Amino acid sequence: MQRLKVNLGERSYFINIEAGILERTGEIIKEINSGKQVFLVSNPTVFPLYGEKVTDSLKRAGFNVETAFMPDGERYKNLHEAMKILDKAVEFNLERSSVVAALGGGVVGDLAGFVAAIYQRGVDFVQIPTTLLSQVDSSVGGKVAVNHPQGKNLIGSFHQPRTVIIDPITLNTLEEKEYKNGLGEVVKYGLIYDAEFFNFLEENANAIKNKEPDVVVEIIYRSCAIKSIIVEKDEKEAGIRALLNLGHTFGHALEKLTDYEVYGHGEALVMGTVAAAFLARDKKHIGDAELVRIINLYKKLDIYKPFPLIDPEQVYSAMLNDKKVMKGRLRLVLPNSIGSCLITDEADKIEIINAIKKAQQGI
Ligand SMILES: NC(=O)c1ccc[n+]([C@@H]2O[C@H](COP(=O)([O-])OP(=O)(O)OC[C@H]3O[C@@H](n4cnc5c(N)ncnc54)[C@H](O)[C@@H]3O)[C@@H](O)[C@H]2O)c1
Ligand SMILES: [Zn+2]
Repeated sequence: MQRLKVNLGERSYFINIEAGILERTGEIIKEINSGKQVFLVSNPTVFPLYGEKVTDSLKRAGFNVETAFMPDGERYKNLHEAMKILDKAVEFNLERSSVVAALGGGVVGDLAGFVAAIYQRGVDFVQIPTTLLSQVDSSVGGKVAVNHPQGKNLIGSFHQPRTVIIDPITLNTLEEKEYKNGLGEVVKYGLIYDAEFFNFLEENANAIKNKEPDVVVEIIYRSCAIKSIIVEKDEKEAGIRALLNLGHTFGHALEKLTDYEVYGHGEALVMGTVAAAFLARDKKHIGDAELVRIINLYKKLDIYKPFPLIDPEQVYSAMLNDKKVMKGRLRLVLPNSIGSCLITDEADKIEIINAIKKAQQGI
């Protein structure tokens, strides 16, 4: 088993990664919680695939298990569905010593984590992520939230998990497009923090595309390691954690303009990062060679798509509505080289719009 520690003082926890680890869910949770009850939150897509394995393991470890489902889909990550899960928690007499465990992708993880953060002012939370995106990103770092009609993740909190249990075997049932969504975030880690990891992704692009088990474990492990380092340095996003938003301000604008229904988050992220890379090249933070390398890696992984032909003025306006605006100026994360990024508010509207136009044309 690969085990990574996220060092956050008394909120420290392990990320446990291993093929087949779901069978040991119960014993791993036993390590961090001495209560009797696990409240397993999932959805009707994931539970039939892995629910029994997890539930059996929890029971073998001596836990009482109660389950609740939210419907499958981003649009259900809202207060109304969270309330229904809270109603179940009350109905089951969940106690302060109980565990809320999320079995599913980032949507289930974010909503169940939000419930865990507010039920009786916070109970132990365990992440059992089953999409690549949730394994490399949303299950680590403690951001939990639901959406509001006015914005994504507007209602939320920081509530670190007590442990994270990642079984890469779950990716075998994941749709191809969801796997690719996660790859967008994996590339991001190389780009913002680790040139050597970026090289690794270039060299192993085919193995990654073919989901070769060893390589999949490696990309999950290294992505979680980078995210952990960043979260350890800046748990509540006062500084360096903002680097994780590379490509996201452009990407969120695209997601919002298409009502979150056309592009997956990772897909929008790739298109957004390409726009950010054009802007960085125009501002001379990187050269043509780096820009081409970034786009080529996306192409090798088969996740490249040119920026959609939406009016760049409209994209810019949507970007201004993002949470990352300070005093009316956009704060953007831009690549500075392969493996490092900077945060700047020095790009003006015309430069941003030009970068979008170039990303629409591609290279
Ligand atoms: N908290 C954070 O730090 C953070 C970071 C990034 C993203 N997020 C959030 O994560 C969410 C996106 O997460 P996601 O991409 O995992 O989407 P998702 O949770 O909607 O999962 C995608 C689809 O795959 C299905 N699925 C999950 N696991 C499966 C499996 N093993 N086999 C077959 N199908 C499976 C799901 O039911 C769903 O239909 C967004 O709401 C986003 O805001 C949060
Ligand atoms: Zn993201």
